[in-house]
Amino acid sequence: KTRSIIRGVGGYLPERILTNAELATMVDTSDEWIQQRVGIKERHIAAEGQFTSDLAVEAARQAMANAGVTPDDIDLIIVATTTPDYTFPAAATLVQMKLGMHHGMAFDIQAVCSGFVYAVATADSYLKNGLANRALVIGAETFSRLLDWTDRTTCVLFGDGAGAAIMERVELADDAPERGVLASALRSDGHHWDKLYVDGGPSSTGTTGHVHMQGPEVFRHAVGKITDVVYATLEKTGYTVADLDWFVPHQANRRIIDGAGAKLGLPPEKVVVTVDRHANTSAASVPLALSAAVADGRIKRGDLVMLEAMGGGFTWGASLIRW
Ligand code: ACO
Repeated sequence: KTRSIIRGVGGYLPERILTNAELATMVDTSDEWIQQRVGIKERHIAAEGQFTSDLAVEAARQAMANAGVTPDDIDLIIVATTTPDYTFPAAATLVQMKLGMHHGMAFDIQAVCSGFVYAVATADSYLKNGLANRALVIGAETFSRLLDWTDRTTCVLFGDGAGAAIMERVELADDAPERGVLASALRSDGHHWDKLYVDGGPSSTGTTGHVHMQGPEVFRHAVGKITDVVYATLEKTGYTVADLDWFVPHQANRRIIDGAGAKLGLPPEKVVVTVDRHANTSAASVPLALSAAVADGRIKRGDLVMLEAMGGGFTWGASLIRW
């Protein structure tokens, strides 16, 4: 059996921390409102001159160290990001350069907050189909650069960061214990594009633009779409929610996470939550949560782990992994 396993993970948050109290001096908000509505205490903000590819490289180095591999061992780099350093080339090729690589292939995936789940499913396909042997899969964002810092309805929700995973193809004997990515399901529906979008781009305004969001609409769609795609992923394998050891959701918002967890009937102690520490880091949020739960020993070899995310587009997806 050909499978792709996750061999190591890593995460990186920029040094500068922006607390809710500090935000309350910039816009009309409060620590209490933010914690109560979305469960965020603080977010990290990339330094001036620190780009998405820099955050990505930090997370990548940690993931490679944890996996015991070097850039020589990697032949595929996928960066999931909405905030690339440049319109082109892809942030992934800049990561490739910064890691001193001349070999392999590198490209970005743009699925906003679902980007890392899309990237895991894409890498899984490339690995299983023999297009690559070992992948560096990264979610990295400098989302702070898309925010209107005078708009309290959006600027309190997001932060910067990066997370990474090393995925590799393995051949398992027929009687070997199950391992790796068991199933993924990816979805999108562009009819919802204007419920969460950035009003800029090279082909429209020629500017970078700012985040615009219909908050209650996003909330309503998120809980339903997340649960549907989790069930669709489980259905492909025969496992049920009760079999899951860990649920690693997109870290957008505590109330969305709790709502989806409750709808699925998941005990809260199986749900990994890190949104309080870094806010919504878009494509970086799932690998940041994953690396936190691996680093502190919660996720162990043999555990059944469900990743899920939902974001602008809308895009949404899930991936079931035997760790
Ligand atoms: N501080 C204080 N008050 C605020 C703030 C703020 N930061 N932001 C909004 N308010 C006010 C509003 O102006 C409104 O005031 P009003 O009643 O006087 O008009 C009041 O709070 C309530 O606003 P609502 O939008 O109705 O508040 P709601 O309970 O819906 O919560 C929220 C808003 C938290 C944004 C919610 O809709 C939500 O969680 N949506 C999902 C958004 C999200 O997580 N997006 C992330 C990207 S999508 C993804 O990754 C899945």
